Amino acid sequence: MPMIDLDEPRDQAALTARLNEPFEIGGVAIPNRVSLAPLAGIGNWFFRLQARRFGAGLLVSEMVSSHAVRYGNERTCTELLRIHPDEHPVAIQLFGEDPVSMEAAAAVVAETGADMIDLNMGCPVPKVCKTGAGAALLRDHDRAVDVAKAAVRGSGLPVTVKIRPGQKPGETDGVTLAKRLEQDAGVAGIGFHPRHASQQHKGRPDYDLARELVEALEIPVTISGGMRGADTIRSVFDYTGAEAVMLARGVMGNPWLFSQVRGLRDQPPSDEEIIAELEWTIDRAIEHIGEQRASRYLRKFYPWYIEQLGLGHQAQDAFQRAESIDAVREMLSELAVSAFA
Ligand SMILES: Cc1cc2nc3c(=O)[nH]c(=O)nc-3n(C[C@H](O)[C@H](O)[C@H](O)COP(=O)(O)O)c2cc1C
Repeated sequence: MPMIDLDEPRDQAALTARLNEPFEIGGVAIPNRVSLAPLAGIGNWFFRLQARRFGAGLLVSEMVSSHAVRYGNERTCTELLRIHPDEHPVAIQLFGEDPVSMEAAAAVVAETGADMIDLNMGCPVPKVCKTGAGAALLRDHDRAVDVAKAAVRGSGLPVTVKIRPGQKPGETDGVTLAKRLEQDAGVAGIGFHPRHASQQHKGRPDYDLARELVEALEIPVTISGGMRGADTIRSVFDYTGAEAVMLARGVMGNPWLFSQVRGLRDQPPSDEEIIAELEWTIDRAIEHIGEQRASRYLRKFYPWYIEQLGLGHQAQDAFQRAESIDAVREMLSELAVSAFA
């Protein structure tokens, strides 16, 4: 069985040039081949906007419940469906098992101005799977096709689907499903995270299977999984033959990776840049949900930046325990003084 050798020498310059080429998904023009992956609880409009500022092509939202959208849940509709004017092209990712809800939700998403809809058929979280959504659809192909058709019908937008190979190691239902989604549901593209649902986000992605899927489909496949380090990302892009790559954990607190993969910069961010980016994030979070809620929400974002700054447990604790955003800002200005010194 072939195995990718990520250290094998490759023409990194040629791959960088290729990653910078525009392409299309279902007629939507995407300016380059480095996309932002969907990240639940994280991929809101400002996280996506940050990715765009650093050079991401297509932006994909965190997963949003089709039922919550259909029934007009206020926070879902005002916060999770919010799109910033500079985000396009942007896809909103929906999850759900019911074609009726999906059709209605897709119509609402189309009205928000999204360029595409992405459907989640890979989420391994039990709360999602036990309703028949997410990775549960990898074993229920008729339903998966009906859900995808409903999203196409409801929105009139290109619909992509993000899948995994299967629920457990050895299963390849995802590959069979992808073919049916292409042929029977008319989906415009596939996002492939080649780790089984039972692996969640751990273990080595099966890039050989990804390569097989790319060869089996006419529609563009975007590869996700293990996307850290510019050279590794380019090697995976090359090896799998995917149309594009999708960055997830590698860009949490490290949006510079988008620029590095695209060859727009080489050097890692300076401490000043990291601090400035965290300050930008804090300002946007307040703009998004107000200072009180932002002060809790931001605790998810601090660890990435503190780690980037090379600071240890004490700093992590201090940011988690900070009683207000003012206290966080104060710590940041002290850090900035030492960064500039
Ligand atoms: C915190 C977190 C949240 C995620 N949320 C979603 C999601 O909402 N929808 C989805 O399709 N995938 C989701 N994923 C999977 C990622 O999009 C991506 O496929 C996965 O992290 C593998 O890429 P990586 O190894 O480069 O991180 C999530 C992953 C993480 C770590």
